[in-house]
Amino acid sequence: MKKNLGSLPAVYPMPVLMIGTYDENGKTDVMNAAWGQICDYDKIFISLSEDHKTCANFLKTKAFTVALADADHLAEADWFGTVSGNDTEDKFERTGMHAEKSEFVNAPVIAEFPLTMECELVRVLETDGIYGAIGRIVNVKAEESILNAEGKVDIGKTNFAMFDQFSNAYYGTGEKLANAWDIGVSRFG
Ligand SMILES: Cc1cc2nc3c(=O)[nH]c(=O)nc-3n(C[C@H](O)[C@H](O)[C@H](O)COP(=O)(O)O)c2cc1C
Repeated sequence: MKKNLGSLPAVYPMPVLMIGTYDENGKTDVMNAAWGQICDYDKIFISLSEDHKTCANFLKTKAFTVALADADHLAEADWFGTVSGNDTEDKFERTGMHAEKSEFVNAPVIAEFPLTMECELVRVLETDGIYGAIGRIVNVKAEESILNAEGKVDIGKTNFAMFDQFSNAYYGTGEKLANAWDIGVSRFG
């Protein structure tokens, strides 16, 4: 028996993305975004509320970074999603995290997050109440500790967080379940 739940954003898991930007004075801001996803091999789309400090920042700098929050930094990630740089002057500094300028774009790389996409703003989409930023991923910076022998990200060495938008909670990534483009054909092909 199925029940109708009405209109809901019913996708799980959602990512816990940390959008890093500079304001006009080079001050770091970071916000939490669950509504973001890869939309091309080298592009990422983030759906935003237009009044965020983050939006004012990337419109000026034409750049942002996107880090994946991990379980070790959930309180910081949640803080970045709870208060705004518009009214909390020391939003980033209060966490004690460290930022350095990306080598590739005019946006901060947060040292404590193990994986960061460095993006240049290529387009802002405004349509039907949706405001979104599309960034071109010009580089991915990753801690060596999360890479395998071939230099690729090894998810087994990470503890990236996932967001459950049904109950507004964070979950950890579990063990690997199966290989993609493989388990289906293995069973049904
Ligand atoms: C788990 C979580 C997910 C969020 N996802 C989004 C999102 O996808 N888009 C958005 O505009 N705001 C999202 N927010 C809210 C912003 O992160 C929040 O309003 C933040 O204060 C904006 O910061 P800023 O004004 O310094 O840019 C989320 C917050 C949390 C806690």
